[in-house]
Amino acid sequence: MQSSGVSYVARTAESANLVYLDNSSTTRPDPQVIRAVNTVLEHDFGNPSSLHRLGAKAERLLDESRERVAGMINAEPSEIYFTSGGTEANNWAIAGTAASFGKERHMVSTTVEHPSVISLLDHLHEEGWEITLVGVDGEGRVDPQDIMDAVTEETALVSVMFVQNEIGTIQDCREIGRRLLGLGPRRPRFHVDAVQGFARLPIDVKDWGVDLLSMSAHKIHGIKGAGALYIRKGVRLKPLVFGGGQESGLRSGTENMPGIVGFGEACRVWSEDREEVMSRLASFRKRLITGIKSAFPDAVLHGPLEEGVAPHICHFSFPGFKGESILHALEARNVFVSTGSACSSHKAKPSPVVMALGRSEAEALSSIRFSMSRNTTEEDIDRAIEAVAESLKELSAWRKK
Ligand SMILES: Cc1ncc(COP(=O)(O)O)c(C=O)c1O
Repeated sequence: MQSSGVSYVARTAESANLVYLDNSSTTRPDPQVIRAVNTVLEHDFGNPSSLHRLGAKAERLLDESRERVAGMINAEPSEIYFTSGGTEANNWAIAGTAASFGKERHMVSTTVEHPSVISLLDHLHEEGWEITLVGVDGEGRVDPQDIMDAVTEETALVSVMFVQNEIGTIQDCREIGRRLLGLGPRRPRFHVDAVQGFARLPIDVKDWGVDLLSMSAHKIHGIKGAGALYIRKGVRLKPLVFGGGQESGLRSGTENMPGIVGFGEACRVWSEDREEVMSRLASFRKRLITGIKSAFPDAVLHGPLEEGVAPHICHFSFPGFKGESILHALEARNVFVSTGSACSSHKAKPSPVVMALGRSEAEALSSIRFSMSRNTTEEDIDRAIEAVAESLKELSAWRKK
């Protein structure tokens, strides 16, 4: 027991010195989330389906978390269905819609979606569905009119992400949703992958005309393996997981109570000071851009400069350098970043998102994403800028050898 205590202390000391700027991959669980999760693990460990009082307590915690998640997006608690995360929520929204239609039809999405959307659409295409991926402008923005132009009478679903996970571009989901509503009762369903914007930016599913919306806990200081799909009342979505009938019979399996309670707690934490945190991050983003540009004037920012971008994501290409080499040089200085989306960061492939902006393969291979969280400090930003300057100098010296 002694040795595990020592290694815990060592890890804590190390993490205190880290500049963690890979928060779009995952965030560090909030201390209040950890407390809530621990209480479930140690004390409130009942199964919400059990009839005794431990079950009743678990059911109350489940209801409370559902209310907290619903409150973040102006939904009814009964419209929130817990899942294992954003990937499952996206898969359920899209594959569940495909199953509900029973015959192959058409779906519309964009070229900059997360792999949990794009790879499923590829699969549906192989199964006979027609898929239209609408392109984006040089800053990653999709034109709502291009979406509308792609919609036909055969379109079953339009799926557009809210905040792009690599470059932070915000899509005008409200405008798209409202235009789709204008098509009347036979309109396609509207799905939004809101994993990167949820909790950090305001979302109103009613005002936006959204039918399905995906969320994930570990991107907002919850723990991994929990998320949710909002399903608007009246939308009939086929389940993908069958069994004991949990989640109103639509998503079976004993609920991941630690993950769900942590998710609810993370929502509560964000709802207290979201605007203050996000305006702080917007000023950090400016500071980072100015600092990186003065350290390396050839750095190319991807995505919008200020308007229409999520304050917590900032993505640059460093022409002439490999993204992976920069990442490891930064890591040696205790600064942690990403070369692209979490799911593709183990492959040295050019980022398809940067390519979709019309950039070259070399630029796409030289890109680094800095992503912040509610824990990020001004000192983190200054240390990151300094580390970028030192790393590029070091890599240039290596190249000349
Ligand atoms: C935009 C987006 N959608 C979906 C996901 C998948 O979420 P999860 O990791 O909870 O499966 C991610 C995770 O990186 C994401 O960034």
